[in-house]
Amino acid sequence: MIQLFHVHKQYRGQPALVDVNLDVDKGEFVFLTGASGAGKTTLLKLIFCAERPSRGQILVSGRNIARIRESAIPYLRRNIGVVFQDFKLLPSATVFDNVALTLHVLGRSSSEIRRRVMAVLEAVGLEHKAANPPQRLSGGEQQRVAIARALVNDPAILLADEPTGNLDPALTLDIMNLLADVNVRGTTVLVATHDHSLLERYQKRTLTLDRGRILEESGSASRRAAIPDRGSWEERR
Ligand SMILES: Nc1ncnc2c1ncn2[C@@H]1O[C@H](COP(=O)(O)OP(=O)(O)OP(=O)(O)O)[C@@H](O)[C@H]1O
Ligand SMILES: [Mg+2]
Repeated sequence: MIQLFHVHKQYRGQPALVDVNLDVDKGEFVFLTGASGAGKTTLLKLIFCAERPSRGQILVSGRNIARIRESAIPYLRRNIGVVFQDFKLLPSATVFDNVALTLHVLGRSSSEIRRRVMAVLEAVGLEHKAANPPQRLSGGEQQRVAIARALVNDPAILLADEPTGNLDPALTLDIMNLLADVNVRGTTVLVATHDHSLLERYQKRTLTLDRGRILEESGSASRRAAIPDRGSWEERR
């Protein structure tokens, strides 16, 4: 699903990733960990085409994205949901409209948009907040809106950068259970986190980055053998 071959990334000559090789299968759940500055966000950005590699090849769903044309990037992103550290919700729009935006851009009918948005808001426990602007939500609720927005188009891949940063332990578990649930439905999930308690609790495949290199890999024995069919949010209601 996601493959990196000898990927290097430098920012103005400074190495952020060094000779990274990675193979993530469809339906896997992978944690990325490592110290601040190790390259976790950079790795996720490369997969999402928010940054280009300085060297190396990146395949996403069999497609070489290292040299992809600018104009093809939006098509690639339709299959990838992202929750980045600086999750920017539109302050002047409601929770509903924040989540609906991608579907509007894709030209979906308003009845389909309503159905999908309400289903995903229900899945994150925020259907009662649909009409509120994001500023009237707590930090954890805003984080869940960001996750709902990433999931509304039923992406094949979900990239989450510190999705539980700044959340209390109960909300952290809610968010993690949500990501695990999405994964069980067949979405390939990559989560960058500093939180060692999460790594211990969930026992997933874990890649540790150290100054831009993949230092160690653990938990790969738990790699999934069978991939279930992906059901939509609506089917699960
Ligand atoms: N846009 C940028 N321009 C220049 N240098 C950058 C840029 N983004 C990241 N870097 C540098 O690249 C390295 C890797 O950064 P990255 O954000 O990937 O680390 P990280 O593992 O996500 O860290 P954190 O845990 O603090 O989020 C760091 O040295 C960082 O300073
Ligand atoms: Mg980061």
